[in-house]
Amino acid sequence: MNLPSHGANPAHLYDASGMVKPSSIIDFSVNTNPDGPPGWLKDKWPSFLELVEDYPDPSGQAAVNAIARRLALLPENILPGNGAAEIIHFIARHASGKKAVIVTPAFSEYEDACRAYGCMIDYVPVDVDSWVLPVETLEEKAKEAAVIFICTPNNPTGQVFQRKELIRLLEKTRAFGTIIVIDEAFYDFAGEDSIVSEIRPFPHLAVLHSMTKMYAVAGLRIGYIAASPEIITRLKRYRPHWNVNAIALQAAQEIASDTQYAARTRTWIREERERMMKEMKKIGFSVLPSSVNFYLLKDSSLDEQKLLLRFLLKRGIVLRHTENFHGLDGRWLRAAVKKEKENNQLLSALREWESQC
Ligand SMILES: Cc1ncc(COP(=O)(O)O)c(C=O)c1O
Repeated sequence: MNLPSHGANPAHLYDASGMVKPSSIIDFSVNTNPDGPPGWLKDKWPSFLELVEDYPDPSGQAAVNAIARRLALLPENILPGNGAAEIIHFIARHASGKKAVIVTPAFSEYEDACRAYGCMIDYVPVDVDSWVLPVETLEEKAKEAAVIFICTPNNPTGQVFQRKELIRLLEKTRAFGTIIVIDEAFYDFAGEDSIVSEIRPFPHLAVLHSMTKMYAVAGLRIGYIAASPEIITRLKRYRPHWNVNAIALQAAQEIASDTQYAARTRTWIREERERMMKEMKKIGFSVLPSSVNFYLLKDSSLDEQKLLLRFLLKRGIVLRHTENFHGLDGRWLRAAVKKEKENNQLLSALREWESQC
């Protein structure tokens, strides 16, 4: 079975599973804000049309300034990308032919990008049940590595590494010249506590943010990296001219000044996530703690979850498989937190599964 390597691709998943896609589905494999983009973005959308006539500003300066202001950093600390995914490729290119360490499980694009640029990949696994950053192992590996990728809040587990452990790692690796990439694509679902405030004391820290997730603008392609001016200058060399389109830049500039949408979303997502987890445990499923808008679940009586995945697919409920996540290898399924009505449909299907077992 050639399953899709990312979520949000239900047609491919049904195809690869040899199943017919029902006319109506609920896609729990996509982990963007289920409320969609903020209302103000929809209202302003028609005015964005005039931007398409000209080339965008190649440096995206207005957006860069707004993001820097929001994060209390300088414009020299910010590099926007065609989604955070593009910047992951810049980093992999920087590490081309050298060692790249990936703390796993993690977003699969680090591995794909590192392979594309011929990096030597070294995986450092984390036990999903205890979820502790292996600082000493990483310190040892950092001596030989050009880059270390750490995803927190973690995709796919939804768990966060303790800030004091991340800082301990930054302290221990300061002298090695290794870039420590902390991917915080989901940080605004967990709170406003970003590690970007540590960029000044730690010039080898690079923090990835994406606007895709919280603001539900996956199709726009806008993300950025925040880091020391030295790292930004290095990565800029790999940037194609006009890499971020004018509409994405305009949206990014305005999103950077919106403080309310994320706060509102965080509150209701947290309530809905906790309700779902409680209900799932009552039904008999195992769930891992999560700080964000998705979580891992499994039927503990199964070694791998393919049967459950197929059972749900048949009912039009699409979860994210974990076959291509190192350390999970299909032993869990990932579900996004959706609106109450859709979440209840997932619970009903899980109750049906449990009653048949
Ligand atoms: C952890 C993580 N980082 C980065 C990205 C890429 O985000 P973007 O849409 O900004 O390219 C994703 C997308 O799924 C992700 O899950």
